[in-house]
Amino acid sequence: MLKTFLLACSLCVMCVGGVNAAETEREPFDDRYCTTCHGADGRGNEGVQAPRLAGMESWYLRRQLENFRADMRGVHPQDIEGIAMRPMATKLSDESIDDIIDWVGSWEYVPAEATIEGGDPARGRGLYGGCAVCHGDRAQGNESLGAPALAGQNDWYLVTQLKNFLAGYRGAHPGDTYGAQMRTMVNTLRNEAGILNVVSYINTLSR
Ligand code: HEC
Ligand code: HEC
Repeated sequence: MLKTFLLACSLCVMCVGGVNAAETEREPFDDRYCTTCHGADGRGNEGVQAPRLAGMESWYLRRQLENFRADMRGVHPQDIEGIAMRPMATKLSDESIDDIIDWVGSWEYVPAEATIEGGDPARGRGLYGGCAVCHGDRAQGNESLGAPALAGQNDWYLVTQLKNFLAGYRGAHPGDTYGAQMRTMVNTLRNEAGILNVVSYINTLSR
């Protein structure tokens, strides 16, 4: 908010027309655009593989939008979902990203329901020990380490992202330092069975 305010002020200083001109020149951000894929109230939409945005930490949301916009995410030819998202971010100005963060923060956070089958949470618990160092023992996330909350996110999305990290579709860009850290860690899960086990354990956690 403060940043937007300061930015608006600096624009006013620069433009001859004064306060009102700066206000009217800024195009409002059209929110329908995101909910088309991410679902009403940003709760996620499995049909198009677009994850839950409601409840997402503002710092993580900002970084992902910036990474998509900078072509650091959603560029691998096999990353089908990332390729769907990237053009949505390339159109965003810094001001629109600020607006999106305020807007997403206004949605009520309701944890996603468990949908995946076939995972063994007892085995997943053992695997999750290595994840907790960064994502927290309740999968609540850790801003200082740049690791987002996993609890409450759509489980099908966690599965896809872990597969993408494992296959090198995500986290492979040289500028994506946080993605690279995660890409190293995903190897401890080894395969799809490991991924299902750990996500079925994450489903038992709440932040
Ligand atoms: C055409 C459908 C579509 C639209 C429109 C769309 N998205 Fe997405 N978005 C996706 C898909 C699919 C993914 C999953 C990408 C992946 O798997 O890497 C995604 C991923 C994301 C992520 C990454 C989440 C994470 O946990 O890493 C963010 C943040 C995001 N979208 C925000 C937005 C915002 C904000 C808008 C509106 C400006 C928007 N999206 C519009 C389809 C869309
Ligand atoms: C060294 C710290 C670290 C460890 C350990 C770690 N992660 Fe991560 N993880 C991260 C970071 C940092 C990100 C954010 C990457 C980015 O910005 O693209 C991340 C992202 C993720 C994502 C993507 C979430 C989203 O919304 O897009 C998933 C899923 C994930 N981690 C699961 C795990 C699992 C499961 C484990 C254990 C096998 C694990 N992580 C271990 C640091 C870690």
